Amino acid sequence: MTKKIILDTDPGIDDAMAILFAEANPNIDLIALTTVYGNAEIETGTRNALYLKQRFNMTCDVAKGTSGPLQRDPVEASVAVHGQNGFGDIDIEDPSLTVDPRPAHRYMIDAVKAAPGEITLVAVGPLTNLALALQEAPEVTSMVKEVVIMGGAFGTHGHTGNVTPFAEANIHDDPHAADVVFTADWPVTVVGLDVTHEAFFSSEYLDTVRDTCGDTGQFLWDISRFYLAFYKERMGVNGCFVHDPSAIAYVIDPSLFEVRNGPIRVVCEGPAEGMTLQKYRDTKHKTDAWKDKPAQNVAISVNDNALLDLFLDSMTAYSK
Ligand code: BDR
Ligand code: CA
Repeated sequence: MTKKIILDTDPGIDDAMAILFAEANPNIDLIALTTVYGNAEIETGTRNALYLKQRFNMTCDVAKGTSGPLQRDPVEASVAVHGQNGFGDIDIEDPSLTVDPRPAHRYMIDAVKAAPGEITLVAVGPLTNLALALQEAPEVTSMVKEVVIMGGAFGTHGHTGNVTPFAEANIHDDPHAADVVFTADWPVTVVGLDVTHEAFFSSEYLDTVRDTCGDTGQFLWDISRFYLAFYKERMGVNGCFVHDPSAIAYVIDPSLFEVRNGPIRVVCEGPAEGMTLQKYRDTKHKTDAWKDKPAQNVAISVNDNALLDLFLDSMTAYSK
């Protein structure tokens, strides 16, 4: 069955991969892109979302989200990873399309209330818009079908962090928002570094995307040059890890992932700010900040070859 999604995103090179993957796959009905600061400033990221909509004739709405975190001091845009313009500094013309008049979190609330039980929220940036939606309309928790998040790192396979030794970027950008979203009473699945660092788009794989996926493949190849240069310099690898597209892969085919169940909390201050911790054993403690919080899913392993096939097959079919 086709799944209706709102994709909350900070476009972003791997965000563009995820957006076009969602647009390409027939099992997903991409209703809207809602934007958030993160990889780029909010104006730039929103421009990038509108650019994709226009260039690839997408029918989704675009709603502009918030420009900074709930409580913490803002972290600067990730220009070292995604370039000054968020798309690897290739030429991006300003689109003529415009955004929905509502802020992102209100767009989400309205859309969810108009189709109770039908919409999956997929978030691949800082979780501020989702937290704002929960603050303004807590009743949406019972109306959202599912929440799928790219973010966090729970230490499986030794993956504990990317922007700090113990924090992943999306959660580190707004730990307070992440803690609100993870502890809300709605069904969350977190697709974090535990699995996204276990799937790899090699340079050769991206060449195949360019050669077999038409204009979309060429675009993804063009913007990923900057990204690959970052990965080469920072990690000494010839390719990139599969962050945001993994969240879309989970929506399309959850059987690609093994998940673990238990409540999740986020460290909101101090040197481990942004660290994500899941309590997955039923132990008893006098003090327990996880007690009485809803159990959520954390992805702990992935069938990476099947994920890569799914991405390539989706993009190839889309280009025909
Ligand atoms: C996440 O951070 C962003 O830079 C990427 O777009 C992805 O959502 C990976 O840690
Ligand atoms: Ca992202």
